[in-house]
Amino acid sequence: MAVTPATWTPSGWRGRPARHLPEWPDEAAADAALARLKALPPLVFAGEARDLQAALGEVSAGRAFLLQAGDCAESFRDFTAVSIREKLKILLQMSVVMIYGSALPLVKVGRIAGQFAKPRSESVERIGDTELPSFFGHMVNDDGPTLEARTPDPDRMVQAYHQAAATLNLLRAFTKGGFADLTQVQMWNQEFVASAPEGQRYDAVATEIERALGFMRACGIDLVDAPQLHQVDVWTSHEGLVLDYEEGLTRRDSLTGDWYDCSAHMLWIGERTRQPDGAHVDFFAGVHNPLGVKVGPGASADELLELCERLNPMRIPGRLTLIVRMGAEALRQALPALLQALRESEHPVVWACDPMHANMFRTASGIKTRSFDEIMAEVVTFFSVCRAEGAWPGGIHLEFTGEDVTECLGGSAAVLEEELTTRYESLCDPRLNARQSLDLAFRVAELMRS
Ligand code: PEP
Ligand code: CO
Repeated sequence: MAVTPATWTPSGWRGRPARHLPEWPDEAAADAALARLKALPPLVFAGEARDLQAALGEVSAGRAFLLQAGDCAESFRDFTAVSIREKLKILLQMSVVMIYGSALPLVKVGRIAGQFAKPRSESVERIGDTELPSFFGHMVNDDGPTLEARTPDPDRMVQAYHQAAATLNLLRAFTKGGFADLTQVQMWNQEFVASAPEGQRYDAVATEIERALGFMRACGIDLVDAPQLHQVDVWTSHEGLVLDYEEGLTRRDSLTGDWYDCSAHMLWIGERTRQPDGAHVDFFAGVHNPLGVKVGPGASADELLELCERLNPMRIPGRLTLIVRMGAEALRQALPALLQALRESEHPVVWACDPMHANMFRTASGIKTRSFDEIMAEVVTFFSVCRAEGAWPGGIHLEFTGEDVTECLGGSAAVLEEELTTRYESLCDPRLNARQSLDLAFRVAELMRS
């Protein structure tokens, strides 16, 4: 189906007003990095992006649910098999809880294997007496507090590509090679989670699932031959921010002749870069991947309709996910009108809730954090507003980690304000730790069921 505007090219965005793009100090080096990316193999296939789009089409029709989660910013330093495995474990645990609780299929999308670039509200940061360029994600510069570290370096895009390739490789091995087998459901419970209340609750669900599998086996159902029990699909996504990187990985699909951004299965456009006439919207209008758009408290219905027309003129179900991030109060005020306008326009979007990005604050001592209760309040409000308007609350979008970090406050095994410095490792925004994530999954499963 013709998605791409007739005059579109992968580099056409360069003629558009652009926000939050890195300023590479050495143009020749940037050109060389782009040429390098263009010559490298794609990270994902067009057919996979189409499969994800079809799965998201089921979400837009109210027959499935989306869980999109991962780091705020992936790191070039924290890059080990263990950290990838722990992220996958918590994603699988949350999935089990949500599928078991809701009896609905769950589309699992990681903020992973490419989430290396950050838009920043301030382009400079004061550290002591010096003013330095802000940290824009490891795809652009380093987070160290020196001018040298903070200087954008386009070779980092090539390094990001290689890290994404290795991450995706391990993810594919874990999800298709036995680790994600449903008979392993008990094994995903990490020690520090298992002892907490939500870990014990998870253990009870896992036991029930094992009993159900045993029951089916005893009835003579052949479980060995059911691939759904032994493998899962975990798709990749990131914010499509650094357009040099996205252009460099855009390929024409040999089967259909259509353009795909082969850096990830799904890409989203951030709240700060979704201007309908801007470079980012121009670029993503031309590729056939499923897309997300972040929607903040200032978004008007007309603006959203214009974005829908630009990004999904053919009204393909699953093509467009609107990821609302307003904070509970603004959501209550603003979301009903947006839901009504989109319903009247018959745009088949997925509505998802990002309860993270409007709920950040600094403690008295200056630490950036979020409160579990406020995160949960936004999710609850999202479900109730969608239901009141007859719209399907299709998914949640989270920042989490599989590790035992102390970055967000609260949860049932509460992280206290004085504990925030104990293990605060995020490169950017504070993430839910594994226990808080599982706790949230149980509460979301209850909302899905009610
Ligand atoms: C993010 O998802 O990390 C982000 C920057 O979000 P937003 O565009 O919604 O502010
Ligand atoms: Co973030």
